[in-house]
This record gives sequence, C-alpha cells and structure tokens, in this order.
Amino acid sequence: MAMIEVNNLQKWYGDFHVLQGITENVDKGEVLVICGPSGSGKSTFIRCINRLEDYQKGTINFDGKDIQDKSVDINELRAEIGIVFQQFNLYPHLTVLKNVTLAPLKVRNMPKDEAETVALALLERVGIHDQAHKYPAELSGGQQQRVAIARALAMKPKVMLFDEPTSALDPEMINEVLNVMKDLAREGMTMLCVTHEMGFAREVADRVIFMDGGVVVEQAPPDEFFKNPKHERTKAFLKEIL
Ligand SMILES: Nc1ncnc2c1ncn2[C@@H]1O[C@H](COP(=O)(O)OP(=O)(O)OP(=O)(O)O)[C@@H](O)[C@H]1O
Ligand SMILES: [Mg+2]
Repeated sequence: MAMIEVNNLQKWYGDFHVLQGITENVDKGEVLVICGPSGSGKSTFIRCINRLEDYQKGTINFDGKDIQDKSVDINELRAEIGIVFQQFNLYPHLTVLKNVTLAPLKVRNMPKDEAETVALALLERVGIHDQAHKYPAELSGGQQQRVAIARALAMKPKVMLFDEPTSALDPEMINEVLNVMKDLAREGMTMLCVTHEMGFAREVADRVIFMDGGVVVEQAPPDEFFKNPKHERTKAFLKEIL
C-alpha cells in the first residue's frame, strides 16, 4: 500500500475544471517533484492532499484511509501532512520560537518545555537557532522559509508538501532552503515538491511529474525525464525553464 493514493482526483472552481482526473501513488520515503506551467493545477493538487482545498470527485487515501471520511480529524491530518508555502505564511506577531511551538502546544497538547526543546532542536537543524527570539520581519526570506519548514516538522509529519518554497527568495537564499530540503529527502521524508528547481529534482527526486491543464501529462525518474521527455508539451516546457 502506498502512503498516498490519489485516484481520479477531480476538482472544479465553479465551472472551471481545474483537476481533470489525477491518479498518483506516493510511497513512503518517496520524493516527488511536480512541475508544469502556471495555472496547470499544481498548487491545487497538493493543497487537496491535506484538505486545504476540497474536491468533488475521486479519492485521496493517506495511510490507507480516505481523507474525506467523516472520522478524519482535519487538524490531525494537517499535522501529519505538513505544508510549506511560497510566501512562508509565518505569524508576524509571534517570535520564531512561538511560531514553531504554537501547533505542538495547541494540536498535540505538548508541554511547553518539551515543545520549546523540540523547536530549538529543529531550528538548529535548519541552521537558525540563534534567531529563535526574533520576529519574522527581522529575518531574511531564506531564514523565514527555514522557520516555516521547522514549524511544519515540529508536528512530526509523515509527509511534507512544498509549494514553490524558493520562488519568492532572492537567488542567494535559494540554496540554503534547498539544502534543508535535500537533507530531509535524504533522511527519508516522504515529500511532494512543486518546484522548478531542476537541480534539486535531479539530485533527490525519485520521480518528476509534469502537469498541464489539470492532468499529469508525463512522469519519469529525473534522469529519463530530463534526457528523454516524450510529450511535446513537456519538451516545450523544459526548453523554456532549462
Ligand atoms: N480559488 C480559486 N478560484 C477560482 N479559480 C482558481 C482558484 N485558485 C486557482 N484557480 C485557478 O485554477 C487554475 C490552477 O491554479 P493553481 O494555483 O493550482 O495553478 P499552479 O499550477 O499552481 O500555477 P502557478 O505555477 O502559477 O502557481 C488557475 O487557472 C487558477 O486561476
Ligand atoms: Mg502554484
């Protein structure tokens, strides 16, 4: 059984058929990179996986359980499937430490001491423990994004979703975030990453999928995907971004 099983996923925004039948399995420990042109449905797809978006047809199973089942606690689901956004989405009025401890305190009912110990260890892991008492606005974009990753990891997720985590960053900060993501991948985290960082894809992805028009047009291991794209739309896309 795959950790995530997406079967014929379909979604509409009003009349607009944004996801037109996506079927994908993601195994435990697998790193999937999702690319494709703007508007192809990449964000919508990954946001469905932790129910930030609802969908009208098809199913998503996580650990063998339908995530739309009434018995699924949505906060628990989002703790197990963390997400990191392009725009960090930190709480501006809370320090870095409080950003990271908030959910473990509220959702996991973790004692404060333990939550802080876990948070500081995670901040150390992403290389910014010395920033723990600052506010997000006092950090660089790369540092803020690393806080966002630490915040998601504090819930001990089984899966991490990344939605273009480096595309709002100045070029010199992209690598510090990609390096944290590469470490996570190598440690065995199951990851779905929407990104156009093809170096990252080459280095750590198990599979790359190319979306266009709400469907998966093509997918392959990175070597094959970059060397030998089959579909015309994939070729055109790769020509544009490489
Ligand atoms: N809340 C919404 N209401 C209506 N349409 C939406 C909504 N969110 C997204 N869309 C439309 O759905 C399509 C897919 O959007 P989505 O954000 O998933 O694309 P994407 O592949 O992530 O694009 P990008 O690379 O620009 O982030 C787009 O045409 C977008 O305009
Ligand atoms: Mg998007």
